[in-house]
Amino acid sequence: MAQDTQAHEQLLRHRRVWERKPALRRVYQEEFFARLLSFRKPGGLSIEVGAGPGLFKQTAPDVFSTDLIWCPWLDAVADAQKLPFRDASVANIFGLDMLHHLATPMTLLREANRVLVPGGRFMLVEPWITPFSYFIFRFLHQERCDLSEAPWQENHDGTAKDKPAFDGNQAIPYLLFGPKHRSEVLASLPGFRVLALEPFCLFAYLLSGGFNHLSLLPEFFYPAISKFEHATLPLWRRIAALRVLLVLEKAS
Ligand SMILES: C[S@@+](CC[C@H](N)C(=O)[O-])C[C@H]1O[C@@H](n2cnc3c(N)ncnc32)[C@H](O)[C@@H]1O
Repeated sequence: MAQDTQAHEQLLRHRRVWERKPALRRVYQEEFFARLLSFRKPGGLSIEVGAGPGLFKQTAPDVFSTDLIWCPWLDAVADAQKLPFRDASVANIFGLDMLHHLATPMTLLREANRVLVPGGRFMLVEPWITPFSYFIFRFLHQERCDLSEAPWQENHDGTAKDKPAFDGNQAIPYLLFGPKHRSEVLASLPGFRVLALEPFCLFAYLLSGGFNHLSLLPEFFYPAISKFEHATLPLWRRIAALRVLLVLEKAS
C-alpha cells in the first residue's frame, strides 16, 4: 500500500513536470510518440501497457490505457505480465519506458504474442545501451543499470516478485534485444519478428533535463536542436543514443 502511494506520487510529479516543461513535451510528442504511432496497424483494438502518468493518452486518446497502478486518467488497471485480453484480440500494443520496470519482462513479451492478432504489432520506446548512454544511466540516473542480469532466462524474476512498480533496470531492453541475445529471445517467442530496432534520442532530451526540475532548453530553441539532432543522428546513433524504438510484429 505504501508502495502504491509512493508510485502514485511519482506519477503525479511526472504530470506536474510535464505541464511545466514545453521542450520536454515536444521531445515526447515529436520523437517518442510520433515514432510509436508511425508503426500503428490501422483498425482494431489498440492498448497501452504501463501508461503511468497518461502522457501518451493525451496524444492518442483512443488507445485503451492500462497500468499496474490505478490512476483516474487511465482506462483500466492491468498487470502487463497477465494481460486481461483474449487470445488474438488486440491489433496494437504500445509501451513507453515500461519493459525495463517489469520483474519478468519475458512474460510480457509472451503475453503480447498471445493477445495480438496475426500481423499485430508491439511498439516500444525504451532505454538503450551505448557507450555514452551507459555512463549516463549508470552514474547520473536514479534507476539501476545492471548489465549482469539475464532477463531472457526462464527463472529470471528481476529483483523480487513484490518489487515496487517504479523499480527498474535500464539495461533490460538491451540485454534482451541487443546483438548478443536477440536470436535466443526471438526463438522463445515463435511468430514474433523484429520489424524495427532504431536507436535514437540525444541532445534535445538531455538538454530538456527529462523529469528533473532543471531544463537547459527553452522552447524557442527546440526546433534548432531538433534539426541538428536529426541531421547528425547517423554519426552518434551507435555510440550515444539514449533510447530505442523497438517494433515486434506477429506473423500473419
Ligand atoms: C517509468 S514509468 C513510465 C510510464 C509511462 N509509460 C511514461 O513513459 O510516462 C513505468 C510504468 O510502468 C508501470 N509498471 C510497472 N510494473 C508494471 C506491470 N507489471 N504491469 C503494468 N505496468 C507496470 C509503473 O506503474 C509505471 O507507471
